Amino acid sequence: MSLTTLSPLGGHAAASGTKQTPSTKTTVLSLQEKKAQGTPITCLTAYDYATARLIDEAGLDLVLVGDSLAMVMQGHESTLPVTMDEMLLYTRGVRRAVHRALLVVDMPFGSYQESTQQGVANAIRFVKEAGAEAVKLEGGRSRAEVIERIVDAEIPVMGHLGLTPQSLHRMGGYKVQGKTLPALEQLMKDALALERAGCFSIVLEGVPREVAQMITAELRIPTIGIGAGPDCDGQVLVVHDLLNLTFSAPAKFVRRYADAATLIRDAVTEYRHDVEARTFPTEEESYHLPRETQAALEALHLPQRHKSLNS
Ligand code: KIV
Repeated sequence: MSLTTLSPLGGHAAASGTKQTPSTKTTVLSLQEKKAQGTPITCLTAYDYATARLIDEAGLDLVLVGDSLAMVMQGHESTLPVTMDEMLLYTRGVRRAVHRALLVVDMPFGSYQESTQQGVANAIRFVKEAGAEAVKLEGGRSRAEVIERIVDAEIPVMGHLGLTPQSLHRMGGYKVQGKTLPALEQLMKDALALERAGCFSIVLEGVPREVAQMITAELRIPTIGIGAGPDCDGQVLVVHDLLNLTFSAPAKFVRRYADAATLIRDAVTEYRHDVEARTFPTEEESYHLPRETQAALEALHLPQRHKSLNS
């Protein structure tokens, strides 16, 4: 074990810092109230302890461990490769950070498509093994049965319609959905089916503003938009998009609130320069022997290796 892991001066200092007491815990019921009152619902993705903690302390309603982590954390080309075990691992870190927000976890591709039993069993794993408070899964009417059974198992389910990244190959790319009247009608039917199946909320991704607005007006449960315009009951973004940590041009619907790439790049480059120039660490940044140990050491009259080498 290193000094850093043992010492309160190391990375664990953050974990032992003052925690903001959660004032009001988000629940599926408080989200319905927000919709009823017309109060916007806030959601961001998070995949690690530090980011999740900052998001929770900033007072967002929902933290989503999205399967987008396959792309932004693992560097995959799509969300398809991420596994149940990987989602569980990331969720456990986020769980330790989130106290106030409702913690929702994405069911990864292949964890609910085979059978209803498979979906229920995997949703239970997220609650039991990682502390999830709700799960999210993609798809419309064809998912109604698995959603009903997961809700029967006492696990709140968030739906996800429109541009559903797990359907990448069927959709033929990441394309805005619901642009024709028949497509709009199908989306509306799907949204109503998900509400009937027991979803507490639905993510609407990559749909025209008008479509999101109509679905939002029709549903009793809140809609959370991403690339779906401002009329949804809430908004979600992938936190890496918001912070400029994606290494690609942002989609039209992304607003960049900070430039973490520049911040991190500059800090890391400065660190490299300081180490190479021997200006880091300084005397002030070094630990020293206690006076008695120093005196005892000097009393041993050990040859001063470095001095003799230099002389
Ligand atoms: O995986 C994810 O991050 C998501 C959001 C984009 C809603 O599903």
